[in-house]
Amino acid sequence: MDYRVSDILIPKEEIEKRVVDLGKQIARDYEGKELVVVGILKGAVVFMADLVRNIPPTVNVSLDFMAVSSYGDSTKTSGIVRIVKDLDSSIKDKNVLIVEDIVDTGLTLSYLVKLMHERQPGSVRVCALLDKEERRKVHVDVAYRGFSIPDEFVVGYGLDYAGKWRNLPSVHVVEVTGESRTEV
Ligand code: XMP
Ligand code: MG
Repeated sequence: MDYRVSDILIPKEEIEKRVVDLGKQIARDYEGKELVVVGILKGAVVFMADLVRNIPPTVNVSLDFMAVSSYGDSTKTSGIVRIVKDLDSSIKDKNVLIVEDIVDTGLTLSYLVKLMHERQPGSVRVCALLDKEERRKVHVDVAYRGFSIPDEFVVGYGLDYAGKWRNLPSVHVVEVTGESRTEV
């Protein structure tokens, strides 16, 4: 099976504008406060790097990272997530903003939000660049959402297919090419 990236779904200029807006919104909400921005590796790295540069120093921002992977068969919807890399620092009494590339079923984020709450932070919110709302299986409160997108597999701007295409500056849909078509 061959795959290729299709035409652009969200051009880099549109992403840039939206990230500026999200930064402003976050700056307003956390003005004068400390904020631990937690990026979920690896998909959120590109988005997070742009986002934090749009939050002015009126917010006391620090960065931390988590890497997660779904347990076992990805078609099973247990919602159990394995922590591959945990946070470096305690989030007790801190304001936490989880930054994720995309919300699909919501299982990953609902698990992560629950996990964060167990650590008694001051607050926890979610910022996701993309949201496939029609795929949702469990509720996730997405406080800051970049774009709602249709149920298509997308790559670029940090998102990958089999580790590829994270470096594309825009978001593209992945297409299957060749004779036998199957879902990505
Ligand atoms: P859930 O279903 O737990 O999944 O909300 C979130 C994770 O699934 C991955 N995902 C994608 N990755 N293009 C990607 O590159 C996509 O279209 C896509 N849809 C889901 C992603 O890792 C996300 O963290
Ligand atoms: Mg991801």
